[in-house]
Amino acid sequence: MAQLWQGRFSKAVDSRVNDFNSSIRFDQRMAHQDITGSMAHAAMLGAQGIISQKDADEILSGLEGILNDLESGALAIDPEAEDIHTFVEQTLTARIGDAGKRLHTGRSRNDQVALDIRLTLRDMGRSLQQQLAELVETLCKKAAENTASVMPGYTHLQRAQPVTMGHQLMAYVWMLLRDLDRFEDALARMNSQCPLGSGALAGTTYPLDRQRTAAALGFDGPCPNSLDGVSDRDFCIELAGAISICMMHLSRLSEEIILWSSWEFKFIELDDAFTTGSSIMPQKKNPDVTELIRGKTGRVYGDLNTLLVMMKGLPLAYNKDMQEDKEAIFDAVDTLALCLRTVTPMLDTMRTLPENMRAAAAKGFINATDCADYLTKKGVPFRDAYKLTGSLVAHCIANGTTLEALPMETFKSFSPVFDEGVYEAIDLIRCTEGRASEGGPCAASVTKQIKQAGEQLAAWKEKHHAEV
Ligand code: ARG
Repeated sequence: MAQLWQGRFSKAVDSRVNDFNSSIRFDQRMAHQDITGSMAHAAMLGAQGIISQKDADEILSGLEGILNDLESGALAIDPEAEDIHTFVEQTLTARIGDAGKRLHTGRSRNDQVALDIRLTLRDMGRSLQQQLAELVETLCKKAAENTASVMPGYTHLQRAQPVTMGHQLMAYVWMLLRDLDRFEDALARMNSQCPLGSGALAGTTYPLDRQRTAAALGFDGPCPNSLDGVSDRDFCIELAGAISICMMHLSRLSEEIILWSSWEFKFIELDDAFTTGSSIMPQKKNPDVTELIRGKTGRVYGDLNTLLVMMKGLPLAYNKDMQEDKEAIFDAVDTLALCLRTVTPMLDTMRTLPENMRAAAAKGFINATDCADYLTKKGVPFRDAYKLTGSLVAHCIANGTTLEALPMETFKSFSPVFDEGVYEAIDLIRCTEGRASEGGPCAASVTKQIKQAGEQLAAWKEKHHAEV
């Protein structure tokens, strides 16, 4: 396939340069969006009388034919073409003749590609949101099953205070709902300004109707500055940023799953179908999925970094460096999609082991704060109560016992304030249920969180009812 930019050149481009320059390998994913954008442009050219209505009609039906043939497989993308824009335009011209050559009137590949990426990422972003919503639903379901599963909550990975598995899982739901929101925000901005009509960099002398093309393509309006229109890639960076944060959340959850599925914790058991074995150690059942998510998070941060560094030194307006945007952002999108596709069923089939969580909760003195609070409520100043309980814990450690197993005389020997009520105050279930402050781990709070999360998700679904 020949170059679009013949005329000035006396030699064909060196095949090595052609290979180096070519983006068809990765921008062919935008074929559909490229054609959609061209249709809006051609219809506008016809309506404005910039090309004849006859030519516009021929272009439109030609483009539709290309779209259908690409979808049916009757037309294959030429891997030798420089990029998807070249391929579509040249195929059109080969099919309909001179009218095809009029399609690019008042347009440049610079505004064309800026449009195509937006249209493509818009679809990809919505699909990621859909996958995220499914993950949120799965986590809420698991949380609902575990509102009473007491486990140690950790700080510094040291047992700290009692929580429930339901509460812990809901923490991830809130992170993921913020991700959903961040995608929403990034997509709204991506959809607000249409770059089509910016031309190569300085607009055009043709009387384009940019309002019309922007509206036809689902944008709020045209971008107000042609230089910015062709050279803005903020929307790629924003999406990569939102994806990176989401990957960070998945990676943290993965890390917990890795810990929880180890023999040291055994709070959960992953389904056999979502684990792998070892080629040499017959006993192994490895949480590969979660380790890969943790690993791929670094790769996505790399994509974000690629975009940020790619843009930072570019003078206005378009520079070929920007062709590197697509591989980076598509990789970030694909990686998150792959992770979500696997992690959701993995969590859905995961079995929680409440007995083991409970046993761990019984061991780490996670009711020590409650013991101090008990004394405080009986009039001991908190600092004194804290110190006294600390000595009790030291005594327990020295004697290999736990607070709840201490006889009353031992409690009394530390402070006469203690009475039988202490056993109730430091009972694990009571300690958990007693944490009824808003957003706390008690069952009622977790149930409320599940309801709130469900409402937020329902509102999002309602908003996108037509699309989803
Ligand atoms: N393949 C190019 C890209 O992705 C399309 C724009 C080409 N524009 C140019 N002036 N060479 O950025």
